[in-house]
Order: sequence, then C-alpha cells, then structure tokens
Amino acid sequence: MYNKTQETVKFLKSKGLTQLDFGIILGSGLGGLVDIIEIELEIPYKEIPNFPVSTVEGHSGALIYGEIEGKKVVAMQGRFHFYEGWEMSEVTFPVRVMKFLGIDNLIVSNASGGVNPNFKVGDIMIIKDHINMMPNHPLRGANDERFGPRFVDMHEPYNLKMIALVEDIAKQKNIPVQKGIYLALQGPTFETPAEYKMVFLMGTDAVGMSTVPEVIVAKHMGMQCFGLSVITDLGIDGHVEEVSHEAVQEAARASGKNISELVKTFIANW
Ligand code: HPA
Repeated sequence: MYNKTQETVKFLKSKGLTQLDFGIILGSGLGGLVDIIEIELEIPYKEIPNFPVSTVEGHSGALIYGEIEGKKVVAMQGRFHFYEGWEMSEVTFPVRVMKFLGIDNLIVSNASGGVNPNFKVGDIMIIKDHINMMPNHPLRGANDERFGPRFVDMHEPYNLKMIALVEDIAKQKNIPVQKGIYLALQGPTFETPAEYKMVFLMGTDAVGMSTVPEVIVAKHMGMQCFGLSVITDLGIDGHVEEVSHEAVQEAARASGKNISELVKTFIANW
C-alpha cells in the first residue's frame, strides 16, 4: 500500500500538484463547491494510477486542482463509499495521497439524515464529533508506521479552532448553522424508523454513509479536519418520511450557495 501511495503521489506531483494548503472531499449533491475553485487542472480518477473509480450517480469522479482565495487546494469530486464494495483501504486511499502531497488540512462534506428534532431539511451542520458504526475499520490489520501510529488519538477529531472560525464566519454572514454529532452506518439502505430512533438515542444528530473512514485515516496521518453535513431528510421519531437519492442530492444542492460561502471564507481566513 505504501508503494502504491508513493506511485500516485509521484504522478500527481509530476502534474504540478505541489505546495498544497487544503484537501476537500465533496459529498453527495455538493459538487457545486467546485465553482469556488479557480481550476488549474482536472484529472479524472481513471487517469490516476491506483485510484478507485466511483460508481454512484452524482459522484462524477475527478480530482480538481486549483486555488480558492489564493490558497492551493485539491478537491475530490466524488468519493468512494464502503457500500459500493470498496475496501476501507480504497475508500481512504485518496486521503493518504493528500497527506503525502503535503496537505495538512482536510475539509469533508456530506449529505445526511437529521435525527435531532430541532433540525430541518436544508440545515448545514458543522460536524463537531462522530460515532463510527461502520462494520469495518480503515486501520484494521497490521499498522504501517510510515502512515501513522498503531493507536490513534481521537480526542479532537474535528479541529476546534476551525469550528470556531466557521461559526464566526456564519454569524458575520448571517448563515444559519447547526453543530452536531455525525454517525456513520454502512448503507446503502436509508435507515428504518427504528434505526433512526436507535442512532438518536445513541447521541447522534445526523446519520450518513461516509466521511468517518476518511477522517479516521486523516487523523492517523496527523491531519486536522473540518466537516460540514447538509441535512437532506429527517429521521425524527414519528415523522420519518420517504427518502430517495435524488431528493438527497436536490436538498444538498439547495444549500450549496451557503456552503460555498462558508468554505470559501474559511479557506481565506485560515
Ligand atoms: N441516512 C443515511 N444516509 C443519508 C441520509 C439518511 O437519512 N440522508 C443522506 N444520506
């Protein structure tokens, strides 16, 4: 695996991806975030050695390199989900590559189902913590010290200074934000009413099918993470409604403008 990451890093460096400030992972329906990037290069995953190729509708699958507010960024347009059949090492491979490209700051985004009764569809939630309920762990197996330590500290999975900065920006710009705990399940089924209730009782605010593996690996590699989740549907006890992938994407896109504004200003001020 180490050699594979180095091969991929060498390829991307040869394309000019150096001196990077931020890695960004674009979640379902949040591909519009690329509009804030002054794009210098777009590399389809299928052209990148060792990169998996995403299959889900709405995840087009390219690495976008460019600038936001003068800072160099690499964005993943399309992520790899465990439910697609990828191994955890494949789901998280791009994060390892980002770190070896010199990236210390990772921004993750996703769409999720809100279980906090104060949430509504379209809310933007700053992820302050997560609960890992995925059936496999990206760090399971022999540990390669060149990536990071065997036992990884997780006392601050999402950087508190980054959270404070974005809360400040949201206040200044009058963009309403929630803050909460994201729980990751495998999917691809959305939750049953009983499952939504279970995750709520566990202390969850929003539930989804991604992000946690990438953040675990980012912490393994010593990166600092910031996460945003768009609430695209609700799993609130007694009010669980029908949900579809299309509705999730639509709801996420509707919050795109505010998300873009937050991320852009965050990057400018970090
Ligand atoms: N559950 C799981 N994943 C999701 C949801 C949900 O309700 N909404 C968007 N992604």
